[in-house]
Amino acid sequence: MSSFLLLALLLGLSAASINFTTVFEWNTFDFVWPSEDFGKEALRKGDYVPTKIFPEDHVVYGERVFISIFNSSKHPTPATLTWLRSTSNSRSPKLNPYPSWRMHEKGNCMTIQEIKGMVVDARGHLWAVDNGNEICPAKLWIFDLTENDSLSLVHQFTNDTVAHTFRDRDLNSLVLDKRPNDTLAYIPDYVSGNLIVFSLNENASWAVQIKDISNVSCIALSPKLIYLGFSINTALYSVPLSELRTKGQKAPLAPTLVGNKKAGSFKMLMDNKGKLYFDLKNLSYIGIWDTTAPFKEEELYKENQEMAVLPSEPTASSYAIQREQLDEEMYDDVAPPVTTTSVQIELGSASNVYEEVYPLPPGSELYLCLH
Ligand SMILES: *[C@@H]1O[C@H](CO)[C@@H](O)[C@H](O)[C@H]1NC(C)=O
Ligand SMILES: *[C@@H]1O[C@H](CO)[C@@H](O)[C@H](O)[C@H]1NC(C)=O
Ligand SMILES: *[C@@H]1O[C@H](CO)[C@@H](O)[C@H](O)[C@H]1NC(C)=O
Ligand SMILES: *[C@@H]1O[C@H](CO)[C@@H](O)[C@H](O)[C@H]1NC(C)=O
Ligand SMILES: *[C@@H]1O[C@H](CO)[C@@H](O)[C@H](O)[C@H]1NC(C)=O
Ligand SMILES: *[C@@H]1O[C@H](CO)[C@@H](O)[C@H](O)[C@H]1NC(C)=O
Ligand SMILES: *[C@@H]1O[C@H](CO)[C@@H](O)[C@H](O)[C@H]1NC(C)=O
Ligand SMILES: *[C@@H]1O[C@H](CO)[C@@H](O)[C@H](O)[C@H]1NC(C)=O
Repeated sequence: MSSFLLLALLLGLSAASINFTTVFEWNTFDFVWPSEDFGKEALRKGDYVPTKIFPEDHVVYGERVFISIFNSSKHPTPATLTWLRSTSNSRSPKLNPYPSWRMHEKGNCMTIQEIKGMVVDARGHLWAVDNGNEICPAKLWIFDLTENDSLSLVHQFTNDTVAHTFRDRDLNSLVLDKRPNDTLAYIPDYVSGNLIVFSLNENASWAVQIKDISNVSCIALSPKLIYLGFSINTALYSVPLSELRTKGQKAPLAPTLVGNKKAGSFKMLMDNKGKLYFDLKNLSYIGIWDTTAPFKEEELYKENQEMAVLPSEPTASSYAIQREQLDEEMYDDVAPPVTTTSVQIELGSASNVYEEVYPLPPGSELYLCLH
């Protein structure tokens, strides 16, 4: 049976190597149910299978770790957005639904249906992309973690931005672009190949076509460029941000091929010094490229190695690295069916808004998940 680990480490002041410590570890997952009976009933009805809960993405804010959970018929979950306390005494904490059970009602489109990608911005707002399902449209939820988790905004994507038909869309990640007078979110649509742009000020979204590419599975931002990566191939592309920021953008944007990684990726993250981190799905390490120099892939963290050897001093403020190995079965009811291993990383957990990654004091934690 595979286990899921959440590791943390303390960042040394100028350490070129960092030590990992396991903080959480699960073989099976349980939830904090409204009542014991409720949990038993969910188990009986097959609404969840404790050994088949599969964490997809995570972000950290203060003492809370938010975890999105993959959902499919073979991996049913009662909630796709959950949280736990990083200070929990338990080695395998139960997952709390976020923000509440009431907000996870299957088929009730006023509630959360399927969260995949998440980001916490510098103001303490949790942005979560909801891909919806056959009945409910895709949405962007924004919760204020500093104000009793109140719902700050929910945006429903219109038909002309994101397909109404469930199988014609797959929104699975996002990055934020903090502008002087607005915050923009960029969300790749895996199926249509469009980049969805959301403006917080205008509470509006629009789709931008990217020439010749689709099936983008990960995205990262630098001050001038957006990077697009794929799980199904090794290419890494960039698109100028200036063109994406223009609302009237009608012509498809031409991406530039930056380089080829050694494998496909599910997750990329940029730190505030321009270092791009990415998982390499069939290889046993996490890759890193200093984007201020020509493309060159280096190793960050190697499997079965307690020590992560950084190419240079850690530059990011707060790290969160999630590394998962998926079994074949994991993807047998979703296309493409071939994935055997995935490694997900995340970095700059307080925020991955490029301009707003605050340097945290030494002693800040890095989280790493192993599946
Ligand atoms: C990592 O752990 C080793 C062995 O415990 C120790 O010698 C080393 O100083 C640690 N490194 C850091 C950066 O904490
Ligand atoms: C989870 O996936 C199953 C199978 O595709 C589906 O029936 C169920 O409605 C999904 N749950 C949610 C919350 O969308
Ligand atoms: C949070 O909710 C509690 C109880 O409803 C209330 O007393 C408190 O003032 C709220 N805090 C904020 C920051 O809204
Ligand atoms: C934002 O847009 C959504 C439609 O997607 C609408 O339902 C909601 O009321 C709007 N919220 C605000 C605060 O304008
Ligand atoms: C969106 O698409 C659906 C299905 O094609 C259609 O029923 C609905 O009327 C459309 N809504 C808008 C606002 O165009
Ligand atoms: C934001 O700033 C830009 C450039 O400074 C300006 O063109 C735009 O109108 C401003 N938007 C809002 C909503 O104030
Ligand atoms: C990949 O993108 C194409 C559109 O170019 C789409 O038809 C296909 O469904 C996508 N693949 C998957 C697995 O969604
Ligand atoms: C990993 O995938 C890449 C790209 O598909 C392939 O070229 C490489 O041989 C694979 N490496 C291993 C160790 O499987």
